[in-house]
Amino acid sequence: MTPVDLSPQSKSILVNLNGEIMEAARAKVSVFDRSYLYGDSLYEVVRSYDGRFLKLDEHLDRLGKSAQLTHMTLGQSLEHYEKEILRTFQAWRELPGHRDADAYCRIVVSRGEGKIGFGLGGLTTPTLYTIYMLPLELPTTEARKRGYHFKIAERLRNDPRALDPAMKTGNYLNSLLAYLEAVPAFDDALMLNRDGHVSEGTTFNIFYVKRGIIATPPLDIGILDGVTRRLVIQCARKLGYPVREVRFPKERLYEADEIFMSSSVKEVFPVTRIDNKRVGKGEAGPITIALEKAYAEARKQP
Ligand SMILES: Cc1ncc(COP(=O)(O)O)c(C=O)c1O
Repeated sequence: MTPVDLSPQSKSILVNLNGEIMEAARAKVSVFDRSYLYGDSLYEVVRSYDGRFLKLDEHLDRLGKSAQLTHMTLGQSLEHYEKEILRTFQAWRELPGHRDADAYCRIVVSRGEGKIGFGLGGLTTPTLYTIYMLPLELPTTEARKRGYHFKIAERLRNDPRALDPAMKTGNYLNSLLAYLEAVPAFDDALMLNRDGHVSEGTTFNIFYVKRGIIATPPLDIGILDGVTRRLVIQCARKLGYPVREVRFPKERLYEADEIFMSSSVKEVFPVTRIDNKRVGKGEAGPITIALEKAYAEARKQP
């Protein structure tokens, strides 16, 4: 498989900058943009399947909630973002070789551009947005078979009274530092909260299975309300597996029969090592596999 060019020079990426669709290399934002100065922005990531974005409405709804939580007055409506995402996707599919391709789509909304300083009175624009439309880079079958190896990072997940993980902002430095602590020895990191309870991964939610029961941290521990997490919980309950949203320490993961993570791009993905301890038999377990399949079916529903 030839690797996809995802560099800023790539001809396979289109960017919609405040309503203007252009090649990625042409898209530039101001040095006075608040996202650049303060990480004062929001974002969402969705992916398409057979030409349709999965749960785009739920992602946009979460963008609206993040705006409320960050006191950001959106200069555009959520419907406008939806229309622009679909328009950019259409343009992207007209690029050579993209006719039937599916995309990774990211929307970033910045509080806007203005003079340096926190005061909102200094803003000279309404919120600004960027939509990135990229080829999907999906994990290979071998990668799925191997599963992920995660480190439980020393770095803690943000306290909900600080940068609340419920809001999906462009301020991901804390998670990025946890990630850098984990790689290259591990694929990625999980984070605990200050009470020593497992919260979530850097860009994904986490589940474990013990004796047929599925457990995942509750939302009020301080995690993102994952769109995939919701769908996975629905799928699991439909299949008849009990799902418990409970607080648990990292030791529960060391003793788990199965562990898997969830996110819009990676879907349901097996985790086979935690802190150098093998999980179960060191491969995707039966409930993880059943959920991968149930998720693949559920995403086809309108
Ligand atoms: C911190 C965090 N948790 C969980 C998720 C998974 O969310 P979703 O399933 O909505 O993609 C993400 C996605 O980016 C994330 O950044």
